[in-house]
Amino acid sequence: MITYRNVHKAFDMPVLSGVDMEVETGEMFALFGPSGTGKSVLLKTTIALIVPDMGDVEVDGESVYRGGKHALEHVRRKVGYVFQNAALFDSFNVLDNVCMGIPEDRLADLSRREAAQRVWHALEIVNLDPREVLAKLPSELSGGMKKRVGIARAIVGRPDVLLWDEPTTGLDPVNTAAVERLIKRLSEELEVTSLLVTHDVQGGLAMCDRVAMLDGGVIRFCGTPSEFRASTDPVVRAFGDRAAAEAALDMVPETS
Ligand SMILES: Nc1ncnc2c1ncn2[C@@H]1O[C@H](COP(=O)(O)OP(=O)(O)OP(=O)(O)O)[C@@H](O)[C@H]1O
Ligand SMILES: [Mg+2]
Repeated sequence: MITYRNVHKAFDMPVLSGVDMEVETGEMFALFGPSGTGKSVLLKTTIALIVPDMGDVEVDGESVYRGGKHALEHVRRKVGYVFQNAALFDSFNVLDNVCMGIPEDRLADLSRREAAQRVWHALEIVNLDPREVLAKLPSELSGGMKKRVGIARAIVGRPDVLLWDEPTTGLDPVNTAAVERLIKRLSEELEVTSLLVTHDVQGGLAMCDRVAMLDGGVIRFCGTPSEFRASTDPVVRAFGDRAAAEAALDMVPETS
């Protein structure tokens, strides 16, 4: 469903140096890696929010960079994106922010009321009370609420693919569990393909069909959770052990 081929990207320094990775249809796939290794940059190349210096990405058989404007439009319609920092529009209320997740051509076929009903439903799915939040501006919401509005915007267009960038960072345990259940449910019931970037290595291993680790600009590991746990690669082991130790310490999640 998603194929990254030899993706390169440098800013001041090289970030991605030839990433090859494939996510299969219907799969739940987690991407791990130390902070600053380019996980968010890689996710952004999927829909050309960041354009690679070299390489290509294919989504559902369409090339994002060689297929022209229409291919990119098709791909963007199929993909929901949960941004690491929620990325809401400050001057739009929640209704309008979530509405932006409905592709324009589909929005044109819906009445204002039908669009609002979709938004209502998406907010309920992420455990927010639409009555309470619809008319609010992002500045009137807590970090965790903003995060969930961002998730509602990603799912409201009923995408085939969901890209989740740290969807549970900064959420309390109740909402972390709810978001994890939601990712699972969307994958299992609606056959949505999920690519999940997460610091929660234990959660990712428990939940996903396959996992990968980005390190030094390349995919250092890709395989099943049991293969990850059994990996003899010292870099993978050190990363996995550190994550397990942090989980054991029950580290307080950072707030967003
Ligand atoms: N738009 C940009 N312009 C310049 N540099 C950027 C840009 N986006 C990312 N970078 C740089 O690319 C590197 C990788 O950033 P990225 O946000 O992908 O890391 P990450 O793996 O997602 O980290 P984290 O786990 O902390 O979210 C960083 O050094 C960052 O400063
Ligand atoms: Mg990131």
